[in-house]
Amino acid sequence: MASIDSMTELLVDQLKDLYDAEKRLTKAIPKLAKKATNDQLRSALEEHLEETEQQVARLEEAFEHMGETARAKPCAGMRGIIEEGNEHVGEDYEDDDLRDAVIIGSAQRVEHYEIAAYGTAIAHAKLLGQNEVVELLLESLNEEKAADEKLTEIAEGVVNLEAANQDEDEESEGAMAGLGVMLGRKRATVSQRATAAARPAGSRKRTAARTSSGGRSRR
Ligand SMILES: [Fe+2]
Repeated sequence: MASIDSMTELLVDQLKDLYDAEKRLTKAIPKLAKKATNDQLRSALEEHLEETEQQVARLEEAFEHMGETARAKPCAGMRGIIEEGNEHVGEDYEDDDLRDAVIIGSAQRVEHYEIAAYGTAIAHAKLLGQNEVVELLLESLNEEKAADEKLTEIAEGVVNLEAANQDEDEESEGAMAGLGVMLGRKRATVSQRATAAARPAGSRKRTAARTSSGGRSRR
C-alpha cells in the first residue's frame, strides 16, 4: 500500500474510513431499532437511519469535490463498536427498558466515535481550504450531535416510562402522587429494583408500604 504523504491524502483516507463507518451503520441501525421497545427510541433510531443514508451521500459528494472516486476503507473502530453493541443488546434482560437502556448506550458510543471522526476531518479540510467539504461534513457532524442529545433525553424517559405507567395504575386505585416524589422515584426505578432484590424480605415489605402512596409497587 502506498504511504500517505500529504494532508490531502490524509483527508481522503479519513473520508474512506467515514464512508465505511456510515455504510456499516445503515445495516446496523435497523437491527438496533428492531430490538428497541420504547417508541421514542425506535423512531429516533429510524430517523437517524435516514440521516445516515444522507451522510453516505454527503461523503460521496465530498469525494467528488476532492476529485476522488468514493471508496470505503474498512473502519476497524466502527466494526468493533457495532460488534460490541450487538453483543450487549443480545444478552438476556428481565425487562425491555433495561435492553432499551443498553441500546441507547450502544448508539451513543457510535455517535461519539463519529463526532470525533467528523471533527478531525473537518479540521483537516479547513487547513486545506476545502470549504465545500467542510460544509458537507459539518452538516453531518451536527446531525450526529443532535442524535446524541436526543438519545440522552430518551435515556431518562426509558427509566421513567415504566414508573409512569405504574403511577397511572395506582392513581386509578385512588392513590395520591406528588410530582416531586414521583420524579425522584422514577429516576431511581432501575437501581431500586436491583437493591430491592438484594434486601431481606422484611425490609422489602416496608419499601412496598412506603411507596404505595404514590411511588412504584412493582413486585
Ligand atoms: Fe453518521
